[in-house]
Amino acid sequence: MKHFTRIADLGPEGVQRILATAAAWKQNPPGALFANRILGMVFFNPSLRTRASFEAAMLRHGGHAIVLEVGAGTWKLEDRDGAVMDGDRAEHVREGVPVLGRYADALAVRTFSHGDGDDVDELDPVIHAFRRFSTVPVLSMESAREHPHQGLADLLTIQETHGTTKVPVTLTWAPHMKPLPKAVPNSFLLTAAACGAEIRVAAPKGYELAPEVRAEAEAYAAATGGKIVYTDDQAAALEGSAAVYAKAWGPSTTSGLPAAPMKELGAWMPTAAHMAKAATEAVFLHCLPVRRNLEVHDSVLDGPWSRVVDEAENRFHVQRATIHSLLNG
Ligand code: CP
Repeated sequence: MKHFTRIADLGPEGVQRILATAAAWKQNPPGALFANRILGMVFFNPSLRTRASFEAAMLRHGGHAIVLEVGAGTWKLEDRDGAVMDGDRAEHVREGVPVLGRYADALAVRTFSHGDGDDVDELDPVIHAFRRFSTVPVLSMESAREHPHQGLADLLTIQETHGTTKVPVTLTWAPHMKPLPKAVPNSFLLTAAACGAEIRVAAPKGYELAPEVRAEAEAYAAATGGKIVYTDDQAAALEGSAAVYAKAWGPSTTSGLPAAPMKELGAWMPTAAHMAKAATEAVFLHCLPVRRNLEVHDSVLDGPWSRVVDEAENRFHVQRATIHSLLNG
């Protein structure tokens, strides 16, 4: 059974194949790719882009999507082996997931990190339970460790802007009032490395990405001719970058962003002055949603660099390529 819940399921060659298909279909849209096919979409967490873009991909190509919000009109799902189910989780994934496979041709799942630490996120328990018990292909709509469709959309946006993904890109930490999961920065790093980019990761001390993710990215970079540097010098990382990707994420290993450093770290919020350090043709990317003037300044989001809406559109383009790939073996 083929699944796509992490960049490792594709590897660098698979990433190139999906980006090429997505770019070609963006120019020449295909017909009824998904006629009579059903995608079951299971949301443990909210969404705007992911839900709309997956549903649009199915509906525009002759298919259908069943959208389930766990605990809101469906039973809450238990994923722990051996759990005594005396709480509010009335259904176990051991039954619920294969049952959905009797109705749908593929399942897509969104399940965020619970902030239990990088070690738990690395295990990605809910998405692994779906992979384990599903009888049909599983796609990630973001999990604790990765948001792989976001990474693909990010790199498609860079490729169509610069004609190549082998350019200097900066992934910079940005401030927020709470510790957010690392799935988005992880996926940008992994996908950019799989595409041979020169990646500068800028984050304050204590906000490093998990060692397992970094090791995986290093392996991709070694295979693709990419390069990765890590620094807490944001200005140096921005110098001459062709793409600036900003994202808030929580501190390493433990949950709970300390209140005091937020004030000191406010200078990490990208502004027009930050973008002036990047290359003249630089683009600004963010997965959205974004908290204006906390995470990213208006001058960037409303400035000439911003490609955040194009980037969101590209979710649709990469997703119809991955769904088609999985449904066709
Ligand atoms: N970027 C992204 O996944 O957006 P949503 O959370 O709105 O789906």
